Amino acid sequence: MSLYAIVLAAGQGKRMKSDLPKVLHTALGKPMIHWVLESVAPLEPEKILVVVGHGAEAVSAALPLGTIAVHQEPQLGTGHAVQLAMAEVADSPEDTILVVNGDMPLLGAPLLGRTIAACGGKAASLVSFQAEDPTGYGRIVRNVGGELVRVVEEKDASESERHLREVNAGVYAFSASALRRALSQNDRNNAQQEHYLPDVIPAMIEEGGVAIVKAEPEEVAGVNSQDQLSSAEAQLRKRINLDWQQRGVWMQDPDRVYIDASVTLAAGVRLYPGVHLEGNTVVSEGAVVGPEVYAIDSEIGPGSRVWYSVLRKAQVGEDVEVGPFASLRPGTVLAARSKAGTFVEMKNTSVGEGAKVPHLSYLGDATVGARTNIGAGTITCNYNGYEKLPTTIGEDVFVGSDTMFIAPVEIGDRAVTGAGSVITNDVPPGALAVERSPQKEIPDYAQKLAARYRNRRSKD
Ligand code: UD1
Ligand code: MG
Repeated sequence: MSLYAIVLAAGQGKRMKSDLPKVLHTALGKPMIHWVLESVAPLEPEKILVVVGHGAEAVSAALPLGTIAVHQEPQLGTGHAVQLAMAEVADSPEDTILVVNGDMPLLGAPLLGRTIAACGGKAASLVSFQAEDPTGYGRIVRNVGGELVRVVEEKDASESERHLREVNAGVYAFSASALRRALSQNDRNNAQQEHYLPDVIPAMIEEGGVAIVKAEPEEVAGVNSQDQLSSAEAQLRKRINLDWQQRGVWMQDPDRVYIDASVTLAAGVRLYPGVHLEGNTVVSEGAVVGPEVYAIDSEIGPGSRVWYSVLRKAQVGEDVEVGPFASLRPGTVLAARSKAGTFVEMKNTSVGEGAKVPHLSYLGDATVGARTNIGAGTITCNYNGYEKLPTTIGEDVFVGSDTMFIAPVEIGDRAVTGAGSVITNDVPPGALAVERSPQKEIPDYAQKLAARYRNRRSKD
C-alpha cells in the first residue's frame, strides 16, 4: 500500500484579480503552494503530483525538487484535475490518494495524517469545518440522521443549503480504486459546467463510506481573494511570532511584528512594534530592533540597536547603532561598534570598527577605516553622471562637517578635513585638507543696515 499526494494548483484564481497565478501569491514571503507542499512532505508520499495549468510555466518553475508537475489544459475543474494526476499513480487498488487544494497555506501535516488515517477501512475521508462565513465554499449536506449525503457547491446550492455553515475544506483521502471508478462517472452537469471533485462523494458513500474529519478554520481556510490571503497571512504570522516568543524572542506587541518564514532570530532578540523582517534576514542575540524597521536580506549583529530604519542587503556587526532614520542600501557593511546615525544613507560602503557616521550623511561606494569620525552633512559625490567612483577614507580620520568628497579620492590615516571643504585631491596621512574661500568681515555692517532701513521706513 502506497500513499500518493495530489495538490491542485491549475486554477486561475479569478477572484484574486491578479495576473500572478493564485498559488504563487505569498504569505510571509513564501508562495502559498510551498506552504501546502511543506505540510504534505512529512507524510513521505510515494509521489507528490502538482496539477498545474493557469500560469503553468511559472508555477512549475516554483516547484521544489521531488515534486512532479501534471499539466491540465484546459482546466475543466477539480475532478478533471485529479483524473489527470491519477494517470501518474500505479494501478494498485490498495493505494491511498491524498488530495489537497493548493490554496490552503494554513494546512499542517498532523491534520493530513488524521485524514489519511480516517480513510482506512472506508472509501474516502474528507475534512470539514464550521465557517463563520461559508461564502464560496462547498456546503456539507447531511441527512436527518446527521450522515453525510453530498457536498454542494455554492453556485449549485438551494437557498436553504446556502445557510449551511459546515463546509468542505478541500482536503480528502481516497482509496485509489474507488476514486478511479467514481471519477470515470464524474460529469459536468452543474452551474459551472466543471468536473467537481466533491461530486464523487455519493459514489464513495456507496462504495464503503466516507469519514468526516473536523478541523478548525485556522487550519484549513482556503484563499480565493486578497482579503482571504491577508487573513491567512495574519494567522500564519500569529503562529510564527508565538513560535519565536517560545524560543526566547521578546516582542512588545506581536500583532505589529512581521517576520517572514525565511528569517532567523536568536533567543534574547528584542522586537518593538512596526518591525518587518524579510528574506534571509538574520538577527543575533541581544539585538534590539524597532520601533519601525524594515530589513530585507540583512544581518543584524549581536547587541546592536536598530530603530526607525530601512536595511536592504546590509550587514550590521556587533554592538552597532543604526538610526533613527537611517537607510542602509545593498552592500553596506558596518563593523563592530560602528554607527550609522540620524538621516544617514549608505550604499556599497563599509564602515570600520568603531567608526561613526552620526548625522545627515550620504556614503556611496566608500570605505571608512576604523575609528574614523564622519562629520555631519558629509557626502561622497560618487557619481559623475556616467559611472560610480570610490572614496577611500583611512583609519582615525577626522572628517569635518559638510565635507564633499569628489570621487575617486583617497584620504590617508589620521588625516583631517576642514568643515565645508570640497575634497577633490587625495589627502596624505596625517595632513589637514581645507578648501574654503577666506572669510571677510565688514565692520559695523549691522548698524549700517539698520540705519538704511530706518531711513526707508521713515519715508513711507
Ligand atoms: C473548492 C471545492 C469546494 C471547497 C473549497 C475549499 C470544488 C469543485 N470545490 O472550491 O467544495 O469548499 O474548494 O477551499 O472542488 N483547480 C485545478 N484545476 C481546475 C480547477 C481548480 O487544479 O480545473 C485547483 C485550483 O488551483 C485550487 C483548487 O483546485 O487550488 C480549488 O479550486 P478553487 O477554484 O479554489 O475551488 P473553490 O471554489 O475554492
Ligand atoms: Mg479555493
